[in-house]
Order: sequence, then C-alpha cells, then structure tokens
Amino acid sequence: MTTPLLDIHLTGADADAALRADARAGLVAVPKRLPPKWFYDARGSELFEEITELPEYFPTRTERALLERSADSIAVLSGADTLVELGSGSSAKTRLLLDAFRRAGSLRRYVPQDVSETALRPAMDALAVEYPGLELHGVVGDFTAHLGRLPARGRRIVAFLGGTIGNLLPAERAEFLTGLRTALRPGEQFLLGTGLVTDPDLLVAAYDDSAGVTAEFNRNVLRVLNRELGADFDIDAFAHKALWDPDHEWIEMRLVAGRAMTVTLPAVDMTVRFAAGEEMCTEVSAKFRLPGVRALLADAGFDTIRSWTDQQERMALTLATAV
Ligand code: AVJ
Repeated sequence: MTTPLLDIHLTGADADAALRADARAGLVAVPKRLPPKWFYDARGSELFEEITELPEYFPTRTERALLERSADSIAVLSGADTLVELGSGSSAKTRLLLDAFRRAGSLRRYVPQDVSETALRPAMDALAVEYPGLELHGVVGDFTAHLGRLPARGRRIVAFLGGTIGNLLPAERAEFLTGLRTALRPGEQFLLGTGLVTDPDLLVAAYDDSAGVTAEFNRNVLRVLNRELGADFDIDAFAHKALWDPDHEWIEMRLVAGRAMTVTLPAVDMTVRFAAGEEMCTEVSAKFRLPGVRALLADAGFDTIRSWTDQQERMALTLATAV
C-alpha cells in the first residue's frame, strides 16, 4: 500500500481569519449576506449528506446516474493519469471516475482537495485500502484560493462536481475558472458538473424540502457563528426561505428574521440589528444552460470537448481542455 500524502494549505487559523472577514463584510452589507462555505462544519457536512438523500433533492442522484453512464467515455477521451478532485468531501462519486480511469488503463494518481481535513483523512484511508497501487496526494485547501498549489505531477484532469460552481457569484466564478486555467498546462483537462435551468417548482422544492433538512442546514451557519465568533443568534427565530430568481437563473437561500433582533458577535466586536422580516442571503445556487457553460469555459481559456446530460436535462457534465 502506498502511504497517502496530505498537504495542508489551510490551517484552522486561516479559516478563522476568513470567517471573521466574511462576517465583518456580510453583516454590514445591505442586504446582509454570508458565504455558503460556512455551512460545512461537521454537523453541516452531515446535514448536506442527508440532503443528498432527500426525495426532493435530485442533483446528487442525477449526477451520479450521469457519471455511471459517461465515466468510461470521459476516461477514454481524457487519457489523464492524475485525477484531481476539487471539493472531494467523502469522495463518494469519485469511485465511479476512479474505476473508469482504471479500466481505461491510465490511472496512476488521485489528488482529492477539500477544505475539511476531517472529511479528507478518512476518505483517503478508505481509498488507500480499496485502490492498492494508486498514489494518493490529498490537499487541504480552499478551491477558490489554493489552485496554484495543486500537485503538478502527471497529466491531470481536474473534476469539480455537484454543481458547486453555482455557489460562486458571477465574478467569483470567472476568477475561479481563470485561476484554474492558469494552474493547468495546455492539454490538461477539466470536468465540470453543473445544474441546468429546469422547472422552478422542482428547483424550489429541492431547496425547501418537506422534512425541513435544508432549513436546518441553512440555520446551521448561525450555529457556526455562535460557536466560532461567540455570537448570540437565536437560531429558532430565523426561518428558511428558498426562491428562484429568474433574472439571474439561480436559487437563492435566505434566513428570515421572525422578529426584530439585536445580535452581538464579540469575536469581531460587532452588534448587528435585524428588522422583523429582514432577509439575509446565505447561498446562491446558479443553474446553467449548455451554451452558457461553453461560453464560461471559453472565456477562461478552455475548449469544450463534450457535454453529457441526463434525459430530463437537469444536470450536465462537461469535459474541456486547457488551450
Ligand atoms: C451541491 C454544494 C452545490 O447548491 O445544491 C444543497 C448545496 N444547498 N441544498 C447546491 C446545497 C442547499 C449545493 N451544492
């Protein structure tokens, strides 16, 4: 068995400083906002795993079915020997890709990257047992900040699945793609998973499930602020809201203050007032159209090789080459 390597590019102190900066900026903004990456502490990551199993939340199972159908074509078209996965989490869908690349005969190395060391370590330990001979090189980092420090060895394909690119605002998205292109050599590849624009009722239901798991996930960001910044948010006083924004073609998740409140955040020395009914944006989840995906990639210096969609055209996988 090859011993897994783990690079740490994001320490607890870095994450702490980033959370403070995001709270300082987002809680004085009008309207107030918090970036979605702060959902994912241990409890938030568990709640997200629960979301992926909800009947209303179709993206995960749709993308998995799509990968089951397309992974062999992707591996053959790609020929890469190194699979890099951004935001790998539990590496659940990765096995479909690893198996396909192994069947194609080219796979040597897997580089999972995630902000959470507690998710990465056990995932890598399991893979080391399941894939003897596969070189494992994990990276603890933020996919928006540490692209330049990805291991450079091999002929790489970078996978970014789950539609997570939709959680970036348009300017962040462009910056991310350009950063990724810069981190790659010409001929290296990118596999992007995106949610597609589909029936708004279906989308809203996916982000506002009847069991209330997404509501708990949304409120979890307040738990994170209470714990990490010593804040005193009354979590139960905030209601979950999900809406479809037809102009931006994205789902927006908000937390709605049920009454007027004053919240103190000692770690950032802030006192923040909420009016009754005030809404704070905690996530956008943009949905795309295939020509839009191609244009986005082209603008960043990627040529699209091929896209795959499910029969109902709700999710897409797009394989592109760095030019
Ligand atoms: C899969 C992480 C991109 O936007 O669908 C699920 C997270 N938010 N329910 C998404 C999420 C609310 C999510 N990502």
